[in-house]
Amino acid sequence: MNLLLGVMGDPVIQSKSPVMHQAALHAAGLPGNYVPLHVKADQLERAIQGIRALGFHGVNVTVPHKIRVMDYLDEIDPAAAAIGAVNTVVHEDGRLIGYNTDGIGYLRSLKEETGAKLNGANIVVLGAGGASRAIIYALLQEKPKCLTIANRTEATAQGLVSEWGHLGSLSACAYNNVRSALETADIIINTTTVGMYPHIEDIPIQPDWLPSGIIVSDLIYNPLETVLLTEAKRKNCRIHNGLGMFIYQGAYAFELWTKASAPVAEMRAAVAGELN
Ligand code: ATR
Repeated sequence: MNLLLGVMGDPVIQSKSPVMHQAALHAAGLPGNYVPLHVKADQLERAIQGIRALGFHGVNVTVPHKIRVMDYLDEIDPAAAAIGAVNTVVHEDGRLIGYNTDGIGYLRSLKEETGAKLNGANIVVLGAGGASRAIIYALLQEKPKCLTIANRTEATAQGLVSEWGHLGSLSACAYNNVRSALETADIIINTTTVGMYPHIEDIPIQPDWLPSGIIVSDLIYNPLETVLLTEAKRKNCRIHNGLGMFIYQGAYAFELWTKASAPVAEMRAAVAGELN
């Protein structure tokens, strides 16, 4: 059977998912095609119905459709429902089921690439947007000692504390009050867009606020090393960029569609080839 897969987004031309998943199918010995699907917002409902009509086994959903796609699915995995966004749709026995693999993908990457122990850790997350929600929800399942969310707009961080405070020890602050939380942090995670191409000189916190010898992670992978990570390296921190999150969100999606284990090394090599 030929597996039909794809990614729906607007724009979608820049997506590395087709090259990554095509390599994965090849490495796993599964015949199939993974195609970019340029879907405008006003066509999303019809495009999702097209999954059934065309016999697709599943799709990834990317910007700007991750939230609205939930209106057109038959079932939503509880974690995706809590996060409020779907990035993976599985077509199973005529039903469309939505999942979110961003947060769990990020966690698998962080653990494998840095050896981070999240249970009992003090974690500071910078940012409270869409990517942050997926990551904070996944982090809370690991039972950290304390998770502090710092956001430019403090009310958004406070909103997350109200929503998920029952899941663990969660607090919010504005950037000008984050310094004390940073002093005791074991892991700092930047989920903001500060430092992303083309604004590669920007950094979300003052470099001298970074403690020495901890783990510093940045969701950005363009560039692979943000100024935040360069400064963290100077302080002998272990650094972690956003490429692994992209690879592993794809790995989890691949596993949901195929029930086979994802050939992660081949997926990473395919994406790395595109970045160079
Ligand atoms: P994503 O889906 O990538 O998370 P998003 O939902 O737009 O994108 O969230 C962007 C995050 O980066 C937010 O936390 C945003 O802070 P605000 O909630 O205050 O907008 C943060 N961000 C973006 N530009 C920023 C800047 N110049 N300084 C500080 N934070 C910034």
